[in-house]
Amino acid sequence: MVRTMPVDRLSDDDLKEILTKYRKIALVGASPKPERDSNDVMRYLLEHGYEVYPVNPLYDEVLGRKCYPSVLDIPDEVEIVDLFVRPEFTMDYVEQAIEEGAKVVWFQFNTYNRDAFKKAKEAGLTAVAHRCIKQEHARLIG
Ligand code: COA
Repeated sequence: MVRTMPVDRLSDDDLKEILTKYRKIALVGASPKPERDSNDVMRYLLEHGYEVYPVNPLYDEVLGRKCYPSVLDIPDEVEIVDLFVRPEFTMDYVEQAIEEGAKVVWFQFNTYNRDAFKKAKEAGLTAVAHRCIKQEHARLIG
């Protein structure tokens, strides 16, 4: 059987390490609308003990948490930048992730941008792609 390597080349052990070692997440494209996947995933992460900082210039608050216009406005260290924006908006946030000193950029489904992914990797960050952080947490940690 031919197995294709995932784009991010990360193993389950790598993902498990990311999800246990890092607890501070900037969730980009956060929304107060319950029908948005970003809202569901943010709720899940909060319920599982992660510190989640919503990022979206449109909102002041999401799920009771102060929402920031950019990753750089978050007054705390950020370890994972989790992207819920269309591919064309991801480069700006990857640049912010690099400037902020984040360790991981996570491209959720339908957010992948090859140049932004490459930029994150070249800056030494771990880049995750075509995966959902909630699904991977549920699958690997529970
Ligand atoms: N910065 C921050 N947030 C932005 C933004 C920007 N530059 N541009 C748009 N947004 C926000 C919007 O506020 C919007 O939320 P709202 O409508 O509740 O206010 C949200 O991003 C999405 O907007 P839009 O671009 O219209 O989304 P879309 O319907 O085209 O969907 C994705 C695009 C990427 C959001 C969608 O495909 C998605 O959610 N992908 C992730 C799927 C996933 O991984 N699901 C988890 C499964 S477990």
